[in-house]
Amino acid sequence: SKSPVRVAVTGAAGQIGYSLLFRIASGEMLGKDQPVILQLLDLPQAQNACKGVMMELEDCAFPLLAGMFATDDPNVAFKDADVCLLVGARPRSKGMERADLLTANGAIFTVQGKAIAENAKEDVKVLVVGNPCNTNAYIAAAAAKKVGRTNPANYHGMLRLDHNRALSQLAAKTGRDVASLKQLVVWGNHSPTMYADYRFCTSNGDSVKALVNDAVWNNDVFLPTVGKRGAAIIEARGLSSAASAANAAIDHVRDWVLGSDEWVTMGVPSDGSYGIPEGIVFGFPCECKDGGYKIIQGLEIDAYSQEKIAITLKELTDEADAVKGML
Ligand code: NAI
Repeated sequence: SKSPVRVAVTGAAGQIGYSLLFRIASGEMLGKDQPVILQLLDLPQAQNACKGVMMELEDCAFPLLAGMFATDDPNVAFKDADVCLLVGARPRSKGMERADLLTANGAIFTVQGKAIAENAKEDVKVLVVGNPCNTNAYIAAAAAKKVGRTNPANYHGMLRLDHNRALSQLAAKTGRDVASLKQLVVWGNHSPTMYADYRFCTSNGDSVKALVNDAVWNNDVFLPTVGKRGAAIIEARGLSSAASAANAAIDHVRDWVLGSDEWVTMGVPSDGSYGIPEGIVFGFPCECKDGGYKIIQGLEIDAYSQEKIAITLKELTDEADAVKGML
């Protein structure tokens, strides 16, 4: 049988962790024949809650769960990790300015990026879920690069929830099965500025853009619905999206590690593709194969799309400027 893969999860005692850990342990992320060791990181005051989660993991008797521990020390949590899911982050408290939020998270992700580079496997795959996830991934990648060991291209931000949200809206609008929809792209930041773009999307060979054929719906209903979905869920549930966020994290890492025949949206450090400045963690259409990924090239960007992409890019370059002093 295969030797276990080490998966570090931060914010393990939180809402997303409560959904995510069980699905990783059941084999949904890395395969039904792949044993895993869970390495949980959370703050000192959450260690008791981590113990409770580990008791429940034990009580599931998952055949693939080969070991687990919890710690409040990033150097311990990331030791020999193959995959790191960075879920824990500093939430925005009342009256907190955006700049303060960026700095507070900058401090967390500089420490964690460095700890990953110094302790994890050389080819570790890192997915940042904790918000602002694109810029947190950008910071962690910069911290890792400074140490000079890990591959900065392997520090991703999670756009997959936006991608999945968009798929469901499009399936409902066109009356087509969600599984039939291929080649959707979500460009940019995981924020209301993201640009979900179905110009290349097909369903059983038909153009989804032609099926929808409604530019007003696109601009006035579709994009705001996907962009503000997180807020709508908080409004309805009284809590932020957690199970769907965990599901998206599973999708992202599964496709990255095991490969995917379809395009998937991933927030990855730009290599300059589509004029996005190098290093900015941006939602791109990607192809995953042999444990790696490639940004799909050569898509035509029309004037409307260019405008949308410029807006979400501006938000990210502003965030990068705001944390420049920390890198
Ligand atoms: P939560 O508040 O339930 O849990 C967060 C956990 O992280 C807590 O247990 C907390 O103690 C821990 N934590 C805080 N700072 C930490 C640090 N420095 N190191 C280790 N652990 C730390 O939050 P929830 O609902 O689980 O969400 C987690 C994050 O995911 C939030 O930042 C949220 O905004 C983000 N999110 C991102 C989505 C995306 O699509 N990218 C979607 C939904 C949520």
